[in-house]
Amino acid sequence: MSLDGDALSVIENPVAVSHPFHLEKTGVGGAQAAQSQSCHDWLRGIHCTNHLSAHKLVRLLVAVFAVGLLGGLVVGVWFLVRLLLRPTSSQSPAGLEDTTETSFCNVTEDIAVADPRKVFYRISPENSLLEIQLEKIPNWLPVCYERWNSSLGNLVCRQLGYLRLTKHKGVNLTDIGPNYTDHFIQITSEQKSSLEKIWQLRGSCITGKVIALKCFECGTRAKLPRIIGGDEATLGRWPWQVSLYYSNRHTCGGTVITSQWVVTAAHCVHNYRLPQVSSWVVYAGIVTRSSAKLAQYTGYAVEKIIYNKNYNHRSHDNDIALMKLRTRLNFSDTIRPICLPQYDHDLPGGTQCWISGWGYTKPDDVLVPDTLKEARVPLISAKKCNSSCMYNGEITPRMLCAGYTEGKVDACQGDSGGPLVCQDENVWRLVGVVSWGTGCAEPNHPGVYTKVAEFLGWIYHIMENY
Ligand code: ARG
Repeated sequence: MSLDGDALSVIENPVAVSHPFHLEKTGVGGAQAAQSQSCHDWLRGIHCTNHLSAHKLVRLLVAVFAVGLLGGLVVGVWFLVRLLLRPTSSQSPAGLEDTTETSFCNVTEDIAVADPRKVFYRISPENSLLEIQLEKIPNWLPVCYERWNSSLGNLVCRQLGYLRLTKHKGVNLTDIGPNYTDHFIQITSEQKSSLEKIWQLRGSCITGKVIALKCFECGTRAKLPRIIGGDEATLGRWPWQVSLYYSNRHTCGGTVITSQWVVTAAHCVHNYRLPQVSSWVVYAGIVTRSSAKLAQYTGYAVEKIIYNKNYNHRSHDNDIALMKLRTRLNFSDTIRPICLPQYDHDLPGGTQCWISGWGYTKPDDVLVPDTLKEARVPLISAKKCNSSCMYNGEITPRMLCAGYTEGKVDACQGDSGGPLVCQDENVWRLVGVVSWGTGCAEPNHPGVYTKVAEFLGWIYHIMENY
């Protein structure tokens, strides 16, 4: 996690793919257009002209040399100017540095975004009653016990981001007081896969019973003291965060969603790492990596790694994978699962969320920190993030952005696969998976995350079939 970094030459680890994607896509011909890129483009240019005659080659080499010389001169002058303009104190307040050089992307976020949902579900925290709100009726209505079954309960729990049903029962109306006597909802469908258009408004419930539900518990943390003004996490603050070790090295972050499943990024596990299931170890319930080496934290062996088949390593589209642990995690104050996002619920730009990880703390660090870091980052709408002053169309519907226009706070190499979490209705949800970014903490280049809400069906499918 990079906090307040200003030097921005990032050393990439083997998995880190924070290269300039537009170059890859424009290909050889388009490479000249992007003047800011150096050796990469030149290497490609030279490589692609290897069938030219010796004569042309000499001319080309002379030209390359001349341009290189000129480029070197320009870079030298730029560095000199930067050095002279740089404030002497390294503690200059965030946002004041570099403003003379960089123009910040000023696309404004839409304040009110229409919620596409027509039906809202909730489970009352006091009495566990399932309540439904229809778009046109402001009251929360209870659900009749008639024709109810547990697969409907599973659907409702998943709709709310809770993975599965754990308990359900019919509660006598006489036991729950006068608030629930006006209108009821009856869920009528036999359909097992979707909750759409399956309810009916009712004036009464024949059985005199309504539904109470309990879903899989997730997204809460034990009550713990908070560090004020700090950025080092304390044990138990992000109990779903895990460190994924590959060949005895911290390689990526991950997030616990059940006692046996961890979500991470596909780019962390793809290619040569994928068949080496036994080289991976998952460390849970720690904040300092050094404590992982102590005997009581043995780490968890991995049984299966499944990455999304649509993962594209050039665009980083569909950058999500699941790891199944060989033995189950014991949940405690320091190891807990997070909830998934609710169906159809897009969080608007500006929503405050958090990232955590053991990634680089300065863009040019080569070592990952010992203690877990955390940072607050607001979501950035796709409209803003895809605008020409940010990622210019590279953000697919399966990605989302979070961070600051001015940079300075961001995830970085080693944070990949880790969580971007937002608190919503008192539970924490895994909204994004750290995926990519151009550099780290650079202005106009916020972090890009896999949008977990787009993969709910895939996650359920994998967990049920593997
Ligand atoms: N790909 C990186 C990794 O493997 C994470 C990059 C995130 N970059 C960013 N600027 N947010 O750890």
